[in-house]
Amino acid sequence: MSIYKIAVIPGDGIGPEVLQEGIKVLNKMAALDASLHFEYTYFPWGCEHYTDHGVMMDEDGIEKLKNFDAIFLGAVGYPGVPDHISLWDLLLKIRKSFNQYINIRPIKLIKGAVCPLKDVKREEVDMLFIRENNEGEYAGAGDWLYKGQENEVVLQTGVFSRKGTERVIRYAFETAKREGKSLTSISKGNALNYSMVFWDQIFGEVSKEYPDVKIASYLVDAAAMLMITDPKRFEVVVTSNLFGDILTDLGAALAGGIGLAAGANINPEKTFPSMFEPIHGSAPDIAGKGLANPLAAIWSASQLLDFIGYEHYGKLLLEAIEVLLVDGKVLTPDMKGTATTSEVGDRIIEVIESLSLKLA
Ligand code: NAD
Ligand code: IPM
Ligand code: MN
Repeated sequence: MSIYKIAVIPGDGIGPEVLQEGIKVLNKMAALDASLHFEYTYFPWGCEHYTDHGVMMDEDGIEKLKNFDAIFLGAVGYPGVPDHISLWDLLLKIRKSFNQYINIRPIKLIKGAVCPLKDVKREEVDMLFIRENNEGEYAGAGDWLYKGQENEVVLQTGVFSRKGTERVIRYAFETAKREGKSLTSISKGNALNYSMVFWDQIFGEVSKEYPDVKIASYLVDAAAMLMITDPKRFEVVVTSNLFGDILTDLGAALAGGIGLAAGANINPEKTFPSMFEPIHGSAPDIAGKGLANPLAAIWSASQLLDFIGYEHYGKLLLEAIEVLLVDGKVLTPDMKGTATTSEVGDRIIEVIESLSLKLA
């Protein structure tokens, strides 16, 4: 029997609500398979913890997380704690400490998901964003000089190392090659005359190792436009931390909404645990009311299953989401339904049950 040790960080706002449904679904998968077992350890870290203890996570938090097989995270951030503290001291700290330098975000219009674009075929929205996740514009390098004075200056420095840039671009090429897809790089070399000129140069260099992968390169402003006007151009996409952050929210809107969009923070070497989370935030505007859509968290549970080598269950779970969406009866209000967060989770369990019976 394989026992997977999962660190659970529900976090803030709707984080705990959606994660509970993700866990429910993981448990259902384990119930289907005698060889699969999850052991959860909950960490009550987040903004409430900060208010009570003055820190977002335990001082030795990273040490505590180190030996888990994976981390399952809800969302971080809540009014009352400055966002740059809550995110830097928990979510970003984990991504950086554990070298989770690859952020995989599928933008795929699955069956039943509603696309706001007119005249678009479902298969035309099928992108796999690979976002640089450790450095770039979110390196945290900078300074705040002469604070509060007339000559106040702030510096926020992008950091693009050769190692960091090469490894994410190479990972994207490997993915495109494996999947037989094209690879598009998104950058901004016309204005960012050091960092993005460098990014484009590295993309050019690494591309020589992959002559069979069809490539394209766009400036980020044009890419934002083309994602709307001609989404089928984008298959596997590689981009920097900031651009990937923004474009994947845009992509989420194209592929059924932010309540459906999942992301995996991967440490490819598996030296450290990888982390799975919905890409949305803590949504304080709807927190605590049972209104949150748990499907993004459930989709990230599917990514977790893929990652630990249970791709057939990852696929089954994605199919269950499709069945629920096509059926259209049990949806949360963001998808124009009236169901609660836990009703959606319960319905997914029922669908998994019936799909697995069909398989058996
Ligand atoms: P957000 O993603 O929390 O919310 C944006 C909008 O989408 C809101 O109207 C919200 O109600 C809605 N929404 C988000 N997830 C939803 C879901 N599952 N179901 C239904 N509706 C959903 O972004 P924001 O409002 O910009 O940020 C809120 C807080 O979350 C901030 O503190 C921010 O820093 C933090 N944040 C955290 C993460 C993370 O933990 N990964 C990501 C983004 C933002
Ligand atoms: C995301 C979030 C985070 C990011 C924030 C909260 C630091 O927006 O995961 O998309 O930008 O990486
Ligand atoms: Mn984001």
